[in-house]
Amino acid sequence: MFTCVSRTKIGILVLGNLLPLHYQWDPLSAMNSIANLQQLCRQPACMVMATRHMASLKMFSNKSLTDEDRIFTNLYGKHDWKLKGALSRGDWYKTKEIILKGKDWILKEVSQSGLRGRGGAGFPTGMKWGFMNKPDTRPKYLVVNADEGEPGTCKDRDIMRHDPHKLIEGCLVAGHSMGARAAYIYIRGEFYNEAVSLQVAIDEAYKAGLVGKNACGSGYDFEVYIHRGAGAYICGEETALIESIEGKQGKPRLKPPFPADVGVFGCPTTVANVETVAVAPTICRRGAAWFASFGRERNTGTKLYNISGHVNAPCTVEESMSIPLRELIDKHAGGVRGGWDNLLGVIPGGSSTPLIPKHVCDDVMMDFDALVEAQTALGTAAVIVMDKSADIIRCIARLMQFYKHESCGQCTPCREGVDWLDKIMWRFVDGRAQVGEIDMIWELSKQIEGHTICALGDGAAWPVQGLVRHYRPELEARIRAHEETKAKATSS
Ligand SMILES: Cc1cc2nc3c(=O)[nH]c(=O)nc-3n(C[C@H](O)[C@H](O)[C@H](O)COP(=O)(O)O)c2cc1C
Ligand code: SF4
Repeated sequence: MFTCVSRTKIGILVLGNLLPLHYQWDPLSAMNSIANLQQLCRQPACMVMATRHMASLKMFSNKSLTDEDRIFTNLYGKHDWKLKGALSRGDWYKTKEIILKGKDWILKEVSQSGLRGRGGAGFPTGMKWGFMNKPDTRPKYLVVNADEGEPGTCKDRDIMRHDPHKLIEGCLVAGHSMGARAAYIYIRGEFYNEAVSLQVAIDEAYKAGLVGKNACGSGYDFEVYIHRGAGAYICGEETALIESIEGKQGKPRLKPPFPADVGVFGCPTTVANVETVAVAPTICRRGAAWFASFGRERNTGTKLYNISGHVNAPCTVEESMSIPLRELIDKHAGGVRGGWDNLLGVIPGGSSTPLIPKHVCDDVMMDFDALVEAQTALGTAAVIVMDKSADIIRCIARLMQFYKHESCGQCTPCREGVDWLDKIMWRFVDGRAQVGEIDMIWELSKQIEGHTICALGDGAAWPVQGLVRHYRPELEARIRAHEETKAKATSS
């Protein structure tokens, strides 16, 4: 029986054993491989399975993204980022008509497009924005999360400095879908230049009547404000961000109540990522079906990826969801330094997501479901590549230092546990540990995961889990090497 091993391999199951058969991914060679296999087997049952499998492979087939399909057409800042340039690229085109079609229509388009939040959790956007439409007399707010503190992630800042009108138009469209009175764009303190560009663009939009009273002549009044943060990673967590806007310390709130019930200033609020908001007008203009035609079911659309680390040409690029990780790195980042075989591992979705080793990277697709299957996550799609020159133990120890520093300290498992993770990891770096402590750090990470107010605790636990899951031999070798050096020193 045929089965799908990955997008670049198919396999045949013989008496329960999987014999993988490789082929270069393109639908034609996939079908050829299956046709050959059909001939090989000459069994009616096998042929039915193969034909079915062929259909499912077609479903997985990835359209290559062309420039015409790119939403962010000024990602690299080569063109005018101000209103004139934005209008020439198609922003603010027929925005009035989109608003006049009404909130239900916008929500329907966003839902049918399959868009899932680009801030890390991947919650279905249409559903989330729809939570705001309960009858309520309080004012409603859209809060745009432009904090972008996740190490490795640098996509939202490129939208704000090179394509700010996409975000402002997105605020209007998203805000209207939830009946919001205003948008607050919470921007990371360090993004000074981005905040300046964004403010210039907001002023232009007000002057042109695109936002403010009677936005775009639609009869809808909508204000847009910038709120500058002070650079704490935890302020990217949605409820900490709300506290921070209210002028308090950025410490996450217990949920429930969720922001859609009690958000900023005690009013219904939706916190949404910059990229999520910025793609909404294009989805409405080009249609849900167009957006949904990229990627695979439940994982649709185009996506901004950041590729950094040991690649020949680090970059930010808009590509189709579900693109194979290897293709993404080879096509856009010039490949791994020293070639693919020199790859040690990848953090696929920003620092909070577990590491995956080369053999997983060989085939994995860049989407929510494929990465969950590989025991990691798409997160912010910030791909951090490490070649064999990297000290993988030290890399994770450095991340623990970051999480320890950024913990707000409200919950004991995070405050104390991440401090322990940090201490143990630095001993692992030198090998000053016992092999039994590898299981101890795993257990400790499990005691943090899921036992805290916000997901920062999980984000600290997962990188350690990825290390132990895939790189235990490296940890053991480091400990043994240290023991040997110690033994030599005492014997001499
Ligand atoms: C510690 C922490 C930091 C976060 N930082 C960000 C961030 O910088 N930007 C962001 O959009 N989401 C961040 N998030 C996720 C937000 O809480 C929230 O889920 C997101 O803004 C929702 O937007 P979306 O539905 O468009 O994905 C963070 C979450 C945690 C736990
Ligand atoms: S998990 Fe950590 S950062 Fe989040 S609320 Fe608890 S102590 Fe604060």
